[in-house]
Amino acid sequence: MLVFADKNKLTSHLSALKEKGLSLGFVPTMGALHEGHISLVRQALDNNSLLVVSIFVNPTQFDNAEDLKKYPRTLEDDVNLLKTVSKNIIVYAPTVDDIYNGNTKAQTFSFDGLEFEMEGRFRKGHFDGVGTIVKRLFEIVQPDNAYFGEKDFQQLTIIKKLVEKHKIPVNIIGCKIHRESNGLAMSSRNVRLKPEYKKAAPFIYKTLKAAKQKFGTKSANKVTEWVTKQFANHDFLELEYFIIADIDTLKTVKRKTKTKTYRAFIAVYADDIRLIDNIALN
Ligand code: PAF
Repeated sequence: MLVFADKNKLTSHLSALKEKGLSLGFVPTMGALHEGHISLVRQALDNNSLLVVSIFVNPTQFDNAEDLKKYPRTLEDDVNLLKTVSKNIIVYAPTVDDIYNGNTKAQTFSFDGLEFEMEGRFRKGHFDGVGTIVKRLFEIVQPDNAYFGEKDFQQLTIIKKLVEKHKIPVNIIGCKIHRESNGLAMSSRNVRLKPEYKKAAPFIYKTLKAAKQKFGTKSANKVTEWVTKQFANHDFLELEYFIIADIDTLKTVKRKTKTKTYRAFIAVYADDIRLIDNIALN
C-alpha cells in the first residue's frame, strides 16, 4: 500500500493514474480509524477505480488546545486496518507543514449562516478550520467523489455549501451513521471513554430515538424540554445542546410544518470527552 507524506509526490502519482480516465474517490479523515470510517472506505471503493484516504489531525479546526493534544494519533494501526480492506488504497498522511506551508491559520469563510448554528456556536472558528483543510485537500487530491459521514451532519451540509460556493468540481456523498451494537455512534473519541462513561454513552442514542417518537405528536419545544430533563440529573453525561433543526438551514425549528424535513442534533460531555450524534425525524 502506498503512503505519501508529501503532496507533490502524491499529486504526480495521481495525475499519471488519472490520465487513464480512472475515477478517484476520496475519504478525508483525522485517523484513529474505526468501522465508521471503514464503511465510507468500502462505499468509496465500490464506486471508484481509485481511492485516496487522507489521515491528518487538522490543528485549525480545534478550538481547544487540550482536545487537539489528546486527539488519538495511530497512523501505523490505521494503515494496517486499511490494508485489511484493500492494498490498493492510497494513503495521504501529510505533516502540518505539507498542508500549511509554515502558516497554520484558517481562512475565513461564509457558509450563509450554517456555520453559526450548533457546533459553530459552541466551537468558535471550527468550520473555518474545516473549510480550510477540506478545500486544501480537494485542491491537492482533486477527487471525483468525496465521502463524509452523517454523524457530522452540519459538517456535511457545510462542505456541500463550500463546494457550491467555490465551484469545486467534486460530488459530495453523505454516508449513514455507523453505530456500535449498543447504539453509540462510532467516533475516534470513543476510545478515550473510561469504562463507566462508555457504559453510560448509549443513553444518548436511546434518548434521540425516544425524542423522534415524541416528535410525531409533540412540538419541538416540548420534545426539547423532555430531552433536557432526561439529562438534568444524569450521573455521567452532561448535555451541551439538544436542537431540532430544519435540515436545509440548520436553524432551530420554532413551529413544525409538514413541508420541511427535520433532524435532532445533540452534543454531550462524557467526562471531558465531547460526543455528538443526530437523528432524522421525518
Ligand atoms: O470529519 C473529520 O474527520 C474532519 O473534520 C475532516 C473532514 C477530515 C477535516 O479535517
